[in-house]
Amino acid sequence: MVERCDIVLKPNLMEAKNRTKQEVLVKTNEYIIKEDLKKLGLGKKYYVKTYGCQMNEHDTENIKAILEDMSFKETENYEDADFILLNTCAIRENVHNKVFGMIGRIKHLKEKKPHIIAGICGCMAQEEVVVNKILEKYKWLDIVFGTHNIHNLPNILSRSLEKKELEIEVLSIEGNVIENLPAKRDSKYKAWINIMYGCDKFCTYCIVPYTRGKQRSRKPEFIIEEIQQLISENYKEVTLLGQNVNAYGKDLDIDYTMANLLEEVAKTGIERVRFVTSHPWDFSDEMIEVIKNNKNIMPYIHLPLQSGSDRILKLMGRRYTKQTYLELYKKIKTALPYSSITTDIIVGFPGETEEDFNETLDVVKECKYDSAFTFIFSPRVGTPAANMDDNVSLEKKNNRLHKLNELVNSYAKEANDKYLGKIVPVLIEGISEKDKNKLVGYTDTMKLVNVIGDVSNVGKIVDVEITEAKTWSLDGKIK
Ligand code: SAH
Ligand code: SF4
Ligand code: F3S
Repeated sequence: MVERCDIVLKPNLMEAKNRTKQEVLVKTNEYIIKEDLKKLGLGKKYYVKTYGCQMNEHDTENIKAILEDMSFKETENYEDADFILLNTCAIRENVHNKVFGMIGRIKHLKEKKPHIIAGICGCMAQEEVVVNKILEKYKWLDIVFGTHNIHNLPNILSRSLEKKELEIEVLSIEGNVIENLPAKRDSKYKAWINIMYGCDKFCTYCIVPYTRGKQRSRKPEFIIEEIQQLISENYKEVTLLGQNVNAYGKDLDIDYTMANLLEEVAKTGIERVRFVTSHPWDFSDEMIEVIKNNKNIMPYIHLPLQSGSDRILKLMGRRYTKQTYLELYKKIKTALPYSSITTDIIVGFPGETEEDFNETLDVVKECKYDSAFTFIFSPRVGTPAANMDDNVSLEKKNNRLHKLNELVNSYAKEANDKYLGKIVPVLIEGISEKDKNKLVGYTDTMKLVNVIGDVSNVGKIVDVEITEAKTWSLDGKIK
């Protein structure tokens, strides 16, 4: 635990970048909640909003459980809450704008109800520029804490309440592995499981290695134990999470890889195993074999491309080429012809020419992805790409994004059309928010399906006949 008195622990970008050979400590007893803090939230409601990736969503599940250990109760409406927390993402500038917009709304609310406690956490809290901005303009906030000290939330909160002033605790460290955090999971049927934290790839555009620390794999036995517990609670699906799951195990002092872990997880007998994100650099043949040989590892792979131009890939520090990416793609598709493959693409990286962009379109045309997340490059303070010369106008970037999206969407529809009339397994997750008469779920290949069927099927994997294919989803009925 962090020993501290009145010093504010602020993020420091240079420290956050540090990587040493220092041993990663696995802490199984780090989250301890003092008796007097267990009642701190009695009669009070909390609201947590999540802005980031699956890892952030899972952090929110941990945060919610910690708050409930302090007797807070959840509310879905921030205007009803006594404690409002924004769990933020730093990956692109547009999230910053959304977060500061929300902070503005909270300020109005706090003017009417001064007792409200408000704070931010997550990846933006790890950014020096953000914390400096808060210290300058938003000192009325109550707490700011980072990604490395979620377990310390009860103490941070109580210190802020005691002092009645902004409490900042952001650790710019390489990070440890905290094993005993509780979780209030969003779903009763599918669960996120962290298998590793941090990232050491340092792609030149990306802030994650600074906000999340160095790559730290969890020990396999802790992961398997967590999954066995979930099976006993009737969970059907686990998604193994990491920024770069294919590199799992490389930092452990045992000879154990992602292929080994996948195999061991499959053997637990859980009905569905997924994993994200797969960096093409570390995708091994053994992994492909294991996926092929285990029916409960889902045929769905997210394989970020980022760019199809070798020149840009090199500037990005991705360590693969258009050709090696395509070779990997074909290897996966040959071994797993039924699989769906999705990707991430950045357009408008500094200096991207029309020729570079066309190389990206070429790869999309070859891979015909099931879908893709596409982004305009967003310079992140402190990353190398933020200082690269960028002579591409925003108008050009927008045009490229538009052109890329049209292409991506046409292939997404084409891929979905292939499902028409087929019968596919769907894990029914609940009732559709848009249409209360329908159920929603995902196929083994991660296609969203709106399903006609009886509500008693929620939580089950059922055969669904696909009756309509759209660009982003399928319609179907239970057989
Ligand atoms: N670890 C994953 C990516 C996580 S971030 C991987 O390496 O594949 C999710 C996606 O956000 C990235 O794949 C990338 O496409 C996008 N992204 C990251 N940094 C970005 C930036 N500075 N500007 C625009 N998009 C970015
Ligand atoms: Fe970011 Fe690259 Fe790490 Fe992914 S692999 S989180 S893009 S640095
Ligand atoms: Fe965003 Fe942090 Fe995830 S920057 S994408 S929330 S790791």
